[in-house]
Amino acid sequence: MKKFSILIAGGGSTFTPGIVLMLLDNLDKFPIRKLKLYDIDKERQGIIAGACEVILREKAPEIEFLATTDPEEAFTDVDFVMAHIRVGKYAMRELDEKIPLKYGVVGQETCGPGGIAYGMRSIGGVLELIDYMEKYSPNAWMLNYSNPAAIVAEATRRLRPHSKVLNICDMPVAIEERMARILGLKSRKEMTVRYYGLNHFGWWTDIRDKEGNDLMPKLKEHVAKYGYVVNDGGDNQHVDASWQDTFLKARDVYALDPGTLPNTYLKYYFFPDEVVAHSNPNYTRANEVMDGREKFVFTECKKIIENQSTEGSALHIDEHASYIVDLARAIAYNTHERMLLIVENKGAISNFDPTAMVEIPCIVGSNGPEPLSIGEIPQFQKGLMEQQVSVEKLVVEAWVTKSYQKLWQALTLSKTVPSAKVAKQILDDLIEANKGYWPELH
Ligand code: NAD
Ligand code: G6P
Ligand code: MN
Repeated sequence: MKKFSILIAGGGSTFTPGIVLMLLDNLDKFPIRKLKLYDIDKERQGIIAGACEVILREKAPEIEFLATTDPEEAFTDVDFVMAHIRVGKYAMRELDEKIPLKYGVVGQETCGPGGIAYGMRSIGGVLELIDYMEKYSPNAWMLNYSNPAAIVAEATRRLRPHSKVLNICDMPVAIEERMARILGLKSRKEMTVRYYGLNHFGWWTDIRDKEGNDLMPKLKEHVAKYGYVVNDGGDNQHVDASWQDTFLKARDVYALDPGTLPNTYLKYYFFPDEVVAHSNPNYTRANEVMDGREKFVFTECKKIIENQSTEGSALHIDEHASYIVDLARAIAYNTHERMLLIVENKGAISNFDPTAMVEIPCIVGSNGPEPLSIGEIPQFQKGLMEQQVSVEKLVVEAWVTKSYQKLWQALTLSKTVPSAKVAKQILDDLIEANKGYWPELH
């Protein structure tokens, strides 16, 4: 069986150890000969890499391991690049969240002005990774989940149309795992779903078991009462109280269109006033993550390095990240697995912009994804998606043409922003905060 060489770009990510543990847990399905980490922050990556070295020595000493900040060393002889970079790191996420809140607007990592600001930083970083990959390993595929995935995906469509990049998100996976638990199924893979939307902006329209039985009625009954809250401790990523609020809020999001089941992220667009009222402008999700996941992961990694052993380590396998292995296997072994990916619409949603990057089911094989046909979508979703996709396209347009005007339009068009005046105030603050990360706008 062929063994693969994997590069994790954004090696210093809080998610790297969980993903490495997940990869090692799946070696029978997806054998690895070489595992490399790449980051631009040597010190940050060094701590994660130090721990990964010990983990690999214990669990799979036959795998060659390397951590580097040198692109040539990183990207040479690679089959898959798993990309999860955060340009500007948590310090900039904190500003993305706090600046809009100053003006009473949703402050969120990927939605509204925060997501737009993050997008303006991410585009260049992700394109750089693609270019390195194509220079040093032209046959490799990039599995990208760097955020904001919607804007990044539009940028790759527009600026690297022939590159082998697949954009994917874990939110539908995480919600489907909850659905499976609501239904008492062993795995989300016992369900076949129909879903459409943009990234962090979509709806399930049909969910069936393998015999074809409709599972929507039972799910709707649960979501109408509890949203996606399932109190059985199954999800070890989305555990904080703020995530519980989000899963519960899906109940109200669902009420807007009881014909479908919603993605949790829609709450930022349907209930922005409540989200803002509920936010602490001095302590946002970035602070929670810095004080929570980041501290936890880095403390655990330092312990492993110090003990040169993982004994007693609390680091855990990121089980639901196994969708990344499913995707890599689909390409490597032509499995034709059905997965939700962010792909160019090209008529799959027949009454929607063919050039929009949409999140829909695809059959994935060694030549990439083949999207399934969705057909016509209702006026409500179409209207929302047209507005939101225009925001995403305008951000990429602003990045390409370095246009202040386009970015102001993007912010004004976001459903989370009340007026062009507020949009301008937020934009001017964001420009100041993002000096050195954004292209200079004129
Ligand atoms: P993190 O800040 O802990 O890690 C990101 C790493 O990227 C840092 O070590 C940083 O130094 C590095 N980096 C920044 N710019 C870079 C560049 N130009 N080249 C190489 N490395 C660079 O962040 P995190 O919270 O662990 O999240 C990592 C990424 O994964 C984020 O983009 C996050 O939004 C994304 N994510 C996506 C999904 C999804 O559903 N698509 C799920 C979880 C996380
Ligand atoms: C979900 C989304 C990701 C997002 C993450 C944020 O998993 O799909 O796109 O990055 O949540 O989680 P955090 O714990 O960093 O707020
Ligand atoms: Mn996501």
